[in-house]
Amino acid sequence: MQIRVNGISVNIYGLKTNPAIIFVHGFPYDHNMWENQIKRFKKDYYCVAYDIRGLGKSAVGCGQFTMELFADDLFDIIKKLKIKKPVLVGLSMGGYLALRAAERNQELFAGFVFADTHPRADDNVSKLKRSSAIAEIESKGLKRYAKNFLPLCFLPDSNRKRYYSEALRRATKQNPKGVKGAQLAMLSRTSTEEFLPEIKKPTLVIVGREDKLTPPQVMKEMAAKIPGAEFVVVPNAAHMSPVENPEVFNAALENFLKQVER
Ligand code: MLT
Repeated sequence: MQIRVNGISVNIYGLKTNPAIIFVHGFPYDHNMWENQIKRFKKDYYCVAYDIRGLGKSAVGCGQFTMELFADDLFDIIKKLKIKKPVLVGLSMGGYLALRAAERNQELFAGFVFADTHPRADDNVSKLKRSSAIAEIESKGLKRYAKNFLPLCFLPDSNRKRYYSEALRRATKQNPKGVKGAQLAMLSRTSTEEFLPEIKKPTLVIVGREDKLTPPQVMKEMAAKIPGAEFVVVPNAAHMSPVENPEVFNAALENFLKQVER
């Protein structure tokens, strides 16, 4: 079932009486990247996967986004759907969002899964890269930008795979204003690094072994700062670990979910 909450397109699967999971996608994708997780977990869990503002089927509006606005949207969804103690699963940009939402109100959640992400704010080099990306999308178009960016997210040989062409197709169909807005939100986000030792909920930190954007070493250091966090490396996967190796990703998620008390 698909509903709208303040312009956000929210997809719901499974029984509301089951324990909840909220999936938050990465950039420049949409909720479809969680297809393999939804398929696997909707029988036993109430799965919610939405499109971040400006992406997928969600409203674009003015396109002037911040991570705070993205976190507000998540809180609105939880409130409107009366979701009780979900496990929050965020990948990369979705992880930045999940980390900030946790920092603002971790009591809302039963646990966290931070996938292929990190807690730091952008340094100057990254800010300048994002500024160039915004300019490039404006002047040369989203298609060209997406064609250059997506190979950084996947294993080198993945361009022959169906999931890669599907991700590229969806990315190039995004509203360029929304994609630029997501860049703005990431560029202006705050660091959540100092908050990590204060996380009191069960946490899984998971990363693709070949992830070049958020490498395993960076995520291992992140996991070490979160009390009791589990750290898992997914083989045969780069930055899009749930898409590239859903079997191993799902097994780690299943194992983690069993340990989370509701
Ligand atoms: C993502 O996968 O969400 C992006 O690579 C995150 C980023 O650009 O920092």
